[in-house]
Amino acid sequence: MIKSMWDNVYNTEQYMYGKQANEFLKSNYEQLPKGNILMLAEGEGRNAVFLAKLGYQVTAVDISEVGLEKARKLATQNGVEIETICTDLAHFDLGFQQWDGIVSIFCHLPAALRQSLYHRVERALKPKGVLLIEGYTPEQLNYNSGGPPVAEMMISKSILTAELPHLHFSLLQELQREVIEGINHSGLGAVVQGIAHAK
Ligand SMILES: C[S@@+](CC[C@H](N)C(=O)[O-])C[C@H]1O[C@@H](n2cnc3c(N)ncnc32)[C@H](O)[C@@H]1O
Repeated sequence: MIKSMWDNVYNTEQYMYGKQANEFLKSNYEQLPKGNILMLAEGEGRNAVFLAKLGYQVTAVDISEVGLEKARKLATQNGVEIETICTDLAHFDLGFQQWDGIVSIFCHLPAALRQSLYHRVERALKPKGVLLIEGYTPEQLNYNSGGPPVAEMMISKSILTAELPHLHFSLLQELQREVIEGINHSGLGAVVQGIAHAK
């Protein structure tokens, strides 16, 4: 059901989150070690293509094959290659000490799945690997600018520190910012941003 919902969202020529990378990623990508990067819930590929153009080896995971098809098309248009994996993050084996970096931009999941995923993220980062994450906080429910409709799927500073206890956050902040990233994310929003490091 989640898969068909997202396939429907993406079943248009238009890029629902735009073709430009997320602003937080653009400002902070240099924190990601050069190497292989896993993009969680990457959708139409704007962030994967951005990193691939900078020389990173990028693997994009998403539940929507329609979204990932657009991601591969965007990569081709930009003259880069990305790997795509269509799967539900509930069942995805991220591996053990496998990734130099993991990127999670607006990856909003039910709480139990999120907790399980974050546990796997901690195990999957190489030593000194970096997690770069941005998502909406529960305060976003007061805005009409995008994001899931329920607080349970939002994230916050306290959720990230509680559910990623083995990572060290060099940056962790909640703020309001103008999120102008496609028609689905458009307007003032309440976000949490984090950069966290494996030991
Ligand atoms: C708000 S979009 C963000 C897409 C992308 N990260 C970006 O910022 O452009 C959320 C993405 O989560 C994906 N998604 C939702 N539930 C998922 C799940 N259980 N497993 C994998 N992907 C999922 C959707 O297909 C969608 O692409």
